[in-house]
This record gives sequence, structure tokens and C-alpha cells, in this order.
Amino acid sequence: MARFQLTINGDRHAVDLAPDTPLLWVLRDTLQLVGTKFGCGQALCGACTVLADGRPRRSCTLPVSQLGTAAVTTIEGLSPDGSHPVQRAWVELDVPQCGWCQAGQIMSTVALLAEHPAPTDDEIGTALQGHLCRCGTYLRIRRAGAVQVESATTATPGMRWVGFTSPSARIARTWWSCRSSRRAA
Ligand code: FES
Ligand code: FES
Repeated sequence: MARFQLTINGDRHAVDLAPDTPLLWVLRDTLQLVGTKFGCGQALCGACTVLADGRPRRSCTLPVSQLGTAAVTTIEGLSPDGSHPVQRAWVELDVPQCGWCQAGQIMSTVALLAEHPAPTDDEIGTALQGHLCRCGTYLRIRRAGAVQVESATTATPGMRWVGFTSPSARIARTWWSCRSSRRAA
């Protein structure tokens, strides 16, 4: 056992754990942050994805001892009420079916949009590569991933519909203009 100081969703936690304990176990079993899901346990499905210093990581295979000083963001850290622009896009487009994979899909999309506020189809595909959805919601995920973040510093939080192109191309594109502080981005 060893003591680790973790920063999760902006809060500091001191935990006593075996160094090889996967971060996912810490989140779910120690901190009761159960929004992050277990799927395969082998870094193959993406269900357990969280952000570590803004980068997507598979928490099922990330030993707590390798986290270092990285600040972790889970799905609970995006917003207290599901109002993060990406979460709202997910709701507006009715993306989830069973929902099991969706927290991981959302976290990778948040990381993508932090780097590419207006991602291309290829960038969305690359970012979500390796995220498996047994319910086959891939098309809706891609539509919701085409979120255009207007500005991280815009004063008034909000989101408005600014356009839609019919699904004549490889995927339909849905563009949202989002205004948010993007706390976890
Ligand atoms: S549970 Fe971690 S990638 Fe599948
Ligand atoms: S919504 Fe069911 S696994 Fe993706």
C-alpha cells in the first residue's frame, strides 16, 4: 500500500492503495464516481476513458502510481448538471441507446474539441477510433461530435443551432455554436 494524492475533477483526494490499482477502480470503488464505466478491462473498448491533463486515457489499465501529478477529469467533472456543450449535443441528438459506452465517447470528444474546435470527419473518426458501441450509435456519435466550439472565453454560456446539412455526404454534419467556459476542456 502507498498513499497517493490525486486531483479528480478539481478536488484533491488522498488515497491509500496498492500502486498497481487501476485508476478506474479508484474512481468507481473508492470515490464512487461511477459515471466512468468498465467494459473490457484491457484498453480495448474505450468505455473507461477519462482525461488526464486533458488527454484521453483508458483508466482500466492506468495504474494509479503512473498518474503522477496529472489532473483527472471524469464525466462527472464536465458539468454538475449535464450542461457541458458536448453533453447537450448528445442529448439534443438523442445519441445514447444503453449508454454504457457514452461517457468514454464524450470524454474523447471533449478532448478532440479542445484541440480542434471545428473537427473534420476524419479527425472525429481518428479521435473516436477504438471506442466500441455495442448498440451501434456510431453515426449519432459522429453527428454530435461535429460540435463547433465558438469560444472558450465567451461570457454567456449557451448553445444555439446554426445549421444542418442533409446526410448526402459520408455522414450528416450538425453544427452547433457553443458558448461555454468549458471547465473541463
Ligand atoms: S474498460 Fe477500459 S478500454 Fe474497455
Ligand atoms: S450506447 Fe450501448 S454500448 Fe454504446
